[in-house]
Amino acid sequence: MAAYEYETHEYDVVVVGAGGAGLRATLGMAEQGLRTACVTKVFPTRSHTVAAQGGIAASLSNMGPDHWQWHMYDTVKGSDWLGDTDAMEYLAREAPKAVYELEHYGVPFSRTEEGKIYQRPFGGHTTEFGEGPPVQRTCAAADRTGHAILHTLYGQSLKNNAEFYIEYFAIDLIMSDDGACTGVVCWKLDDGTMHVFNAKMVVLATGGYGRAYFSATSAHTCTGDGGGMVARAGLPLQDMEFVQFHPTGIYGSGCLITEGARGEGGYLTNSEGERFMERYAPNYKDLAPRDYVSRSMTMEIREGRGVGDEADHIHLNLSHLPKEALAERLPGISESAKIFAGVDVTKEPIPVLPTVHYNMGGIPTNYWGEVLNPTKKDPNAVVPGLMAVGEAGCASVHGANRLGSNSLIDLVVFGRAAAIRAGKVVDRDSAVPSTNTASVDKAFDRFDGLRNAKGTVPTAELRLEMQKTMQADAAVFRTSKTMKEGLDKMVAIAGKMDDLQVTDRSLVWNSDLMETLELANLMPNALATIAGAEARKESRGAHAHEDYTTRDDENWRVHTIARVEGNKTDLSYRPVVTDPLTTEKEGGIALEKIKPKERTF
Ligand code: FUM
Repeated sequence: MAAYEYETHEYDVVVVGAGGAGLRATLGMAEQGLRTACVTKVFPTRSHTVAAQGGIAASLSNMGPDHWQWHMYDTVKGSDWLGDTDAMEYLAREAPKAVYELEHYGVPFSRTEEGKIYQRPFGGHTTEFGEGPPVQRTCAAADRTGHAILHTLYGQSLKNNAEFYIEYFAIDLIMSDDGACTGVVCWKLDDGTMHVFNAKMVVLATGGYGRAYFSATSAHTCTGDGGGMVARAGLPLQDMEFVQFHPTGIYGSGCLITEGARGEGGYLTNSEGERFMERYAPNYKDLAPRDYVSRSMTMEIREGRGVGDEADHIHLNLSHLPKEALAERLPGISESAKIFAGVDVTKEPIPVLPTVHYNMGGIPTNYWGEVLNPTKKDPNAVVPGLMAVGEAGCASVHGANRLGSNSLIDLVVFGRAAAIRAGKVVDRDSAVPSTNTASVDKAFDRFDGLRNAKGTVPTAELRLEMQKTMQADAAVFRTSKTMKEGLDKMVAIAGKMDDLQVTDRSLVWNSDLMETLELANLMPNALATIAGAEARKESRGAHAHEDYTTRDDENWRVHTIARVEGNKTDLSYRPVVTDPLTTEKEGGIALEKIKPKERTF
């Protein structure tokens, strides 16, 4: 057994991760007087939310008529009928409140002439239950909305006395013998000390796992750390096969060019200069949802109408927009296009390609953020002491495909919901659970095994193998053959975790070891993704199966539940929640409106 000394900390709540969801949860907990710690592997304002550009969806009606039910309908349709209806109602209903709270906390939103929050159009957001024109629902702070939100939430959390443990890497959850979560074991990166956080509630807000892929808009820190910890605790992941490709990553670097660029009037063209989205989505064109646009772009490239020397990408045109509009509404992407593509957006198109952007799947939760461990008898069984929010969680509001700007609203609505729920279920007067030393020892054993790994495969080499396999075989379009090959390869790649070679054995700023721990987290996320994809014999949202090209609601309107142990993945399924929170009589949406139907734009 590996012996590490550690310092013990006690809190009502420990939030792991300081992106938008983590900070909104931290703030909400601290505001209620819960003793709250936020543990984060990067400085809070460097969390990946800082890179979110285009905006946050809420039916404020600042630019024209809108309604929360239209937002809910668009989210249901966007999810290709895989989202949980109660959670989607909660999201759409609570969104305006959550955005006004952000405004009052001090988020510097862009403004209309009358001083209201500025809202722009985004893909898949419509009026009149999909029958009307696109709606301007996405609230923006220029094209740096995530930056504005993250900085505000961090300031507010400090003001409310939340305590921050910065540059602490969470190694593993502490689980009690009866299956409750009672804390988390952490490694402090800058001095090598170990820390045990005991808590009545642990909230995982660790973000997505975009870095399981070779080309992603996600930061290098997006390594699915929450999903890794959950899998090792014997808990499942949900709907991992649904991976979103953002249509406009900069060709080559993968940097994000916001969908807001198309919201402000930008459009895509092929090598013939054709605005091809008019053929694929006659009504909403470039403002169709992301799965639609990414597939259309891929078809154009496949059919030989890509641009560039190798006809392997597409053009995004902005040069027809007024220079002042570009400077005021899209300053960040104008700069990114210059730096990463050498393009002056006022004169030339930006070369773009669909790039991995978001994980619809994650740790299954109810709409309060409580983590679920579904059984046959109880598909909604809650894991005591554990919550997951943001991209790490799967509530599930995005189902098989997320609408642009529904991510930032997911972060704040469910970060806030987790705090509301914790305020009710966490007993302030009870004692903090004592340290479960067996669980802590297990975490240190695993840590020590990786620290002293003396195999033959360097971490970076194995990571690259995983990333290239996922990029090739769990792509925009998928076939039975590519997915089977991809799954076999991933099982072999995960098997090599036992042959890893770590060369730096120190405990202070050991990036070799930290990247190895991150790889150990990426691996179960990647395995669940490819195994879930291989098993799903239909096309739905971001899962475009070329051998099963239509959606099959009779057999596949179910959530995939994946339990990963080592390189083995066990799959089962859980029903989609089809009941909304409120009936039509209570002011809710008419069921008729959200009945599954063909998804066209
Ligand atoms: O295109 C964007 O600005 C990204 C927004 C999102 O993923 O919600």
